[in-house]
Amino acid sequence: MTKQTGGMTQRPFGMTQRPVPVIGQGTWYIDHGDRAAAVAALRKGIDLGMTHIDTAEMYGDAELVVADAVDSRRDQTFIVSKVLPSNASRRGTITACERSLKRLRTDRLDCYLLHWRGQYSLTETVAAFEELVTAGKILSWGVSNFDADDLDELLGVAGAGRIACNQVLYHLQERAIEHSVIPWCEAHGVAVVAYSPFGHNEFPQPGSAGGRVLETIARAHGATPRQVALAFLTRRASVFAIPKASSAGHAADNAAAGHLTLTKDDIAALEKAFPRGKEPRSLPML
Ligand SMILES: NC(=O)c1ccc[n+]([C@@H]2O[C@H](COP(=O)([O-])OP(=O)(O)OC[C@H]3O[C@@H](n4cnc5c(N)ncnc54)[C@H](OP(=O)(O)O)[C@@H]3O)[C@@H](O)[C@H]2O)c1
Repeated sequence: MTKQTGGMTQRPFGMTQRPVPVIGQGTWYIDHGDRAAAVAALRKGIDLGMTHIDTAEMYGDAELVVADAVDSRRDQTFIVSKVLPSNASRRGTITACERSLKRLRTDRLDCYLLHWRGQYSLTETVAAFEELVTAGKILSWGVSNFDADDLDELLGVAGAGRIACNQVLYHLQERAIEHSVIPWCEAHGVAVVAYSPFGHNEFPQPGSAGGRVLETIARAHGATPRQVALAFLTRRASVFAIPKASSAGHAADNAAAGHLTLTKDDIAALEKAFPRGKEPRSLPML
């Protein structure tokens, strides 16, 4: 079930069932440029319904920027942070979460993710996540960069109905998750969060073959190519996207994708212009 709030489509976020906007906000490298502009960009995004904010202990000072942007609007936001694999032991996960809470100036995370699989057993990390849930320091937990076989193993450790999301690389030119990861997540009620939805720095060039297809569809909807890309990636009810924008203008542009619906013909043209390709041996990640 989806609903529109202020033009932004929201959907239940996996097992949490909480309504979360289809388009959220990434924060990797957001601390590298003009901090005031970054805060203004995130605030503009929140104003326009992009209340899902993704950050991580790995992203330098990004958590501090998020804290400044969210300020008194904590209850309106859905904040996600991530523990580094090198910290994801039974105790290390708890300590890392407490550090993130402090930097984010909040008492809880809406969702806490294992950034990618590392040296600690899933049993240890899941036990720590569950302890954090019991303590009210996180409201749900999930993973990132997990392939279908990793998810099978995780399900065996955690049991059904515990994994909120899997955050994975997904953009027009990298559709590998459509083979096994999205079907796995849909079968188990796990939200899929598309990271680097513009390909990080690889968005199709205007005038290239794919760029021209995007431009044609964008023109027909009075939209931009990036809005079309976001609408394509979130065409399935299980998928959310978290583009990163460092300016209020870019944030506003991205938020408007939250009420763009593509036609079947648009989707077919994009499928053709940006083919899914064969399933790779391992899950691509940045
Ligand atoms: N879990 C993981 O392992 C993982 C890995 C990578 C990323 N992530 C998450 O996913 C988020 C998004 O991915 P990403 O930061 O790699 O890249 P991205 O969102 O695919 O692309 C960001 C780039 O697009 C530009 N941009 C954004 N909106 C635009 C607009 N409306 N018009 C023109 N340009 C626009 C940005 O420029 P400006 O900055 O100038 O606005 C930036 O150069 C990250 O920030 C992070 O939160 C997670």
